[in-house]
Amino acid sequence: MYSLSWNLIRSIAYFAFVSATLSTPSSNWTYRIPSKVQNGTAHARFEIDTSGGNLSLSSRQTLDAPHLNRINANSFDWWYFDAVDEDNPHTSLVVTFFTSSATAFPFLDPDEDSVLIAFVWASFANGSSWAGYLPSSLATVDIGGKGKQASLGIWEDTGFRWNALKEDLSAYEVVLNVPELEVKGRLGLVARSPPHLPCGVQENITSLQIAPHIGWVSLVPDALGSVDITIQDTHLKFQGAAYHDKNWSDRNFTESVRTWYWGHGRLGSYSIVWFSYLAINDPTNTTYVSSYVARDGDILVSECDASLLTVRPTGPPNTTGGRYPAFVGDLPDGFKLDFVLPENTRMRVNVSTRAKVAGDGEYYMRWTGNMTGEVVKINPSPVVQESSLTGVAVFEQFHMQEQDS
Ligand SMILES: *[C@@H]1O[C@H](CO)[C@@H](O)[C@H](O)[C@H]1NC(C)=O
Ligand SMILES: *[C@@H]1O[C@H](CO)[C@@H](O)[C@H](O)[C@H]1NC(C)=O
Ligand SMILES: *[C@@H]1O[C@H](CO)[C@@H](O)[C@H](O)[C@H]1NC(C)=O
Ligand SMILES: *[C@@H]1O[C@H](CO)[C@@H](O)[C@H](O)[C@H]1NC(C)=O
Ligand SMILES: *[C@@H]1O[C@H](CO)[C@@H](O)[C@H](O)[C@H]1NC(C)=O
Ligand SMILES: *[C@@H]1O[C@H](CO)[C@@H](O)[C@H](O)[C@H]1NC(C)=O
Ligand SMILES: *[C@@H]1O[C@H](CO)[C@@H](O)[C@H](O)[C@H]1NC(C)=O
Ligand SMILES: *[C@@H]1O[C@H](CO)[C@@H](O)[C@H](O)[C@H]1NC(C)=O
Ligand SMILES: *[C@@H]1O[C@H](CO)[C@@H](O)[C@H](O)[C@H]1NC(C)=O
Ligand SMILES: *[C@@H]1O[C@H](CO)[C@@H](O)[C@H](O)[C@H]1NC(C)=O
Ligand SMILES: *[C@@H]1O[C@H](CO)[C@@H](O)[C@H](O)[C@H]1NC(C)=O
Repeated sequence: MYSLSWNLIRSIAYFAFVSATLSTPSSNWTYRIPSKVQNGTAHARFEIDTSGGNLSLSSRQTLDAPHLNRINANSFDWWYFDAVDEDNPHTSLVVTFFTSSATAFPFLDPDEDSVLIAFVWASFANGSSWAGYLPSSLATVDIGGKGKQASLGIWEDTGFRWNALKEDLSAYEVVLNVPELEVKGRLGLVARSPPHLPCGVQENITSLQIAPHIGWVSLVPDALGSVDITIQDTHLKFQGAAYHDKNWSDRNFTESVRTWYWGHGRLGSYSIVWFSYLAINDPTNTTYVSSYVARDGDILVSECDASLLTVRPTGPPNTTGGRYPAFVGDLPDGFKLDFVLPENTRMRVNVSTRAKVAGDGEYYMRWTGNMTGEVVKINPSPVVQESSLTGVAVFEQFHMQEQDS
């Protein structure tokens, strides 16, 4: 009975992926994602309808749908939410809803049978961090519901769920009611700037690939986050910079990635998102970037032209932390960002790591941090327009290339 209804739903969903019009829901679509690794080929959605150069309501909602027709051993798709305290960059909360096998994304527990993992990470004012996860037996994702139900996700048996609070997905809540982990509370997000697609919104049809086989959409690049959650004996209550995106791929993570830097933050009145990436075994050594800067909610840049953003790790003296391109085990103490903005201006940002939120110290790290920035008018000679911008950020790196011996 159950597998029949899954097949029916899957065939509807699959039709959407292959249809030339990339159809979007005109009414509620319900996806039920099973916990077992599926057989067969995974097809990914890597384009969205943006007729007239606009992201319509239904396209926007479709961006939050599953982007694979099935999760096989070599594919991943997940929903990510975070917030970092604007007053203390040590304090943060991250929640990820995975649909991924551990062979596809090797940072998941290989002993876990379910591809449906609900994960929570927290970092505290004293700089320490904590993480917990639960496997689910069935995930339900509903897209295109009316009003406040426009996107919702339930990882059954875990007590993790998200729910859009506005039809245009400009507000969400992530609710955790997880006795097994002794976690109970909520992360609320109210968007402060419009969505970011990897290369911005293009005419007619917009690509969602940030790099070959890697899909990414930042539905909420910057939000006012409100966290009120109890994690075992600690009560976290703060406001800060929050964020929601999702990413997916139709092949193993390790088949794609050499180095990967991503982050987001709030810097004065600016909302920023950075992404810079090198692919593994790439004879062309192409740098893939995506740059997003908004000021008071108005987009200044939302592009993927590699000349518009430079991201470089910075390291302590006499370490390989600041090496670029980097190798497995290189640990920076921060990053330098250089954004090209309109009207001959640039925004230069220093990012310092604060709390370590996740990672193995080798291949993967996620941090919170603090930032300092300035906006400089370049021509005819450099003039600082705004200085001493400060803010907080959440950011990560993957270094997948071993150094040649
Ligand atoms: C995948 O195929 C194998 C071998 O035919 C079978 O044992 C397994 O049950 C299949 N898995 C699913 C989820 O259908
Ligand atoms: C599309 O966007 C343009 C410019 O942003 C706007 O003028 C136009 O009204 C929009 N069209 C629709 C159908 O929303
Ligand atoms: C994906 O990764 C798994 C685990 O490393 C490996 O067994 C499998 O062969 C990989 N798939 C492909 C297509 O390379
Ligand atoms: C979507 O439809 C399903 C099946 O009819 C229903 O169970 C679910 O409650 C609906 N969700 C929303 C948000 O309307
Ligand atoms: C977008 O679609 C219109 C109408 O079909 C077509 O005239 C135009 O050339 C298309 N633009 C691009 C960039 O493909
Ligand atoms: C840091 O804070 C956390 C959360 O309150 C607590 O569990 C942990 O014991 C503290 N660590 C130290 C070293 O004080
Ligand atoms: C990918 O997913 C991670 C969560 O692990 C998220 O932090 C990041 O924003 C995503 N970035 C891209 C470019 O896919
Ligand atoms: C690859 O490109 C990066 C960025 O432009 C550069 O720093 C690096 O030296 C290049 N590596 C090779 C082997 O060409
Ligand atoms: C870094 O190495 C150089 C050369 O070996 C040495 O002179 C210098 O004192 C070292 N600096 C630090 C901070 O260790
Ligand atoms: C981050 O904060 C620390 C401690 O206050 C400070 O030393 C550092 O310079 C700050 N980093 C940036 C990039 O502002
Ligand atoms: C970034 O740090 C460098 C020192 O590493 C400093 O010279 C520069 O002024 C800083 N930039 C900003 C915007 O704070």
